Amino acid sequence: MSPPNKELTGHKLLLLVPWEPPAGYVDGLRARFPGLEVVHENWDTWSQPTLPPHLTEEDWSTVTVLLTGPKFPTREAAPRLQLVQLQSAGANFILDNPLFKDTNIAFCTANGVHGPQIAEWIVCTFLAYQHRIPYFLGLQRAHRIGADSSTRSGILGYGSIGRQVARVATALGMEVYAYTNRPRPTPESRRDDSYVLPGLGDPEGKLPSRWFSGTAPEELAAFLDSGLDLLVLAVPLTPLTRGLISGPQFELLARGRRTYVANIGRGPVIDTDALITALNTDAIRGAALDVTDPEPLPSDHPLWDAKNIIITPHVSGNSTSYNHRLLAILNINLERLSEGKDFMNRVSRKRGY
Ligand SMILES: NC(=O)c1ccc[n+]([C@@H]2O[C@H](COP(=O)([O-])OP(=O)(O)OC[C@H]3O[C@@H](n4cnc5c(N)ncnc54)[C@H](OP(=O)(O)O)[C@@H]3O)[C@@H](O)[C@H]2O)c1
Repeated sequence: MSPPNKELTGHKLLLLVPWEPPAGYVDGLRARFPGLEVVHENWDTWSQPTLPPHLTEEDWSTVTVLLTGPKFPTREAAPRLQLVQLQSAGANFILDNPLFKDTNIAFCTANGVHGPQIAEWIVCTFLAYQHRIPYFLGLQRAHRIGADSSTRSGILGYGSIGRQVARVATALGMEVYAYTNRPRPTPESRRDDSYVLPGLGDPEGKLPSRWFSGTAPEELAAFLDSGLDLLVLAVPLTPLTRGLISGPQFELLARGRRTYVANIGRGPVIDTDALITALNTDAIRGAALDVTDPEPLPSDHPLWDAKNIIITPHVSGNSTSYNHRLLAILNINLERLSEGKDFMNRVSRKRGY
């Protein structure tokens, strides 16, 4: 870590976002950190093929902190860069980038921003299915008349999003089983210190009645075979999670209560062909997908017509509070930079998320 630098003297923050920072935000930063130069470039790094072409070599040479999406300068172009604050919770797109792989620049995610909306989306799609709302809407359009008891949800990826799903699910009377990458045998190990809005999530890890963990196939099998009504996929996309849920896993889900599957993580965590088979053979009750593989889904793809499916176009985490929460994480990380402390939501080069 760098030594404390209370006023962030000599630092330059480049906000590369496709929106105006809220009124007073930049002035507030300048007042809090008088040594910090703040530059805002209205630029959509998601849709634009490059970084802003009008930024010169000199502009980049002094940037130390960068708020960006999936576009990055090279190490040579931004030699003083220390901290990259990502606009997304997923960091899969940085794993092969030399700026991440071959440097020790801190990359921090937006974990914690999406949980409130995604938890609503999960519960909304699951309850819509359980109460047969799509079916009744079909009847209504045709001008025709025409829930289960205690439910158990298994949350594969008990991180920022998974913990908020658990909060909402338990409020609805559901039982929660959690799955993490790293073992969580003690109360202390169940804590999560990533960004969370006050009063939300499960930072203490108190809500699950059972914990599963690790990458051993037997452990995943035991989890999937534990009588889940709802399986929530909230893992990042890494080499270990690609194709994690495929034919054999759907067979396990079919054995118990015929699980409903919700994927808000990344599409390739599920093998799409195996999912279509599982849906069309009633091996699972249904699926709600906010993410797909491929994404976007081509208009003639068979997944659209699979039985009991709800597909949304990667929107479950959208919210009018998104930018506000993202900037709250950036602020925390600027404070930590000024105190010489390690950052919040830092992506681990070893784990890949
Ligand atoms: N649909 C959307 O709009 C949207 C929005 C935001 C995020 N996402 C996706 O959702 C993912 C999760 O977001 P988050 O904020 O909840 O992330 P997070 O806080 O980093 O949580 C990730 C969780 O997944 C677990 N995990 C990682 N690798 C695993 C593996 N191989 N096996 C089992 N568990 C594993 C982690 O275990 P440990 O606790 O042991 O580390 C952690 O509990 C993101 O990476 C992103 O891809 C999608």
